[in-house]
Amino acid sequence: MDKFVNQLKIAFASQYAFAIKAQNFHWNVEGSDFYQKHKMFQKIYEEVYAAVDDFAENIRKLKAYTPASLYRFSALSAVDDEVEILEPQAMVSELLRDSEKMQEIMKVLFQEAEDRGEHGLSNFLADRQDAFAKHAWFLRSTLKA
Ligand SMILES: [Fe+2]
Repeated sequence: MDKFVNQLKIAFASQYAFAIKAQNFHWNVEGSDFYQKHKMFQKIYEEVYAAVDDFAENIRKLKAYTPASLYRFSALSAVDDEVEILEPQAMVSELLRDSEKMQEIMKVLFQEAEDRGEHGLSNFLADRQDAFAKHAWFLRSTLKA
């Protein structure tokens, strides 16, 4: 299979896993600043979910099928699942690391899309990189003492 298409599928599955994790933290966070973190995680997962459909359709535009099952997402994702209930700051740190990983994934794919002359797709990937940079900024700022 085309390596680029496979990397796009990995990025797609990874952002789905990322959104599920942000929603997990939205639901399960506790502590004195519960409401602030509960809202922040919601803002993040809503932004990522809103891009899922366009991402899937971009894979279809390349004549490939999009992964669309929990099994496939789990098999492909570069973002690890979280099955434990973490402390609030650990949730923020973990999602920050994942945001930085997602930025890097989008950055690499952007360049590949540019090299292939897929400019609609590279625009989309640039926007996704920027969105994860914004999520990382919010999370990093929350960790500051
Ligand atoms: Fe909610």
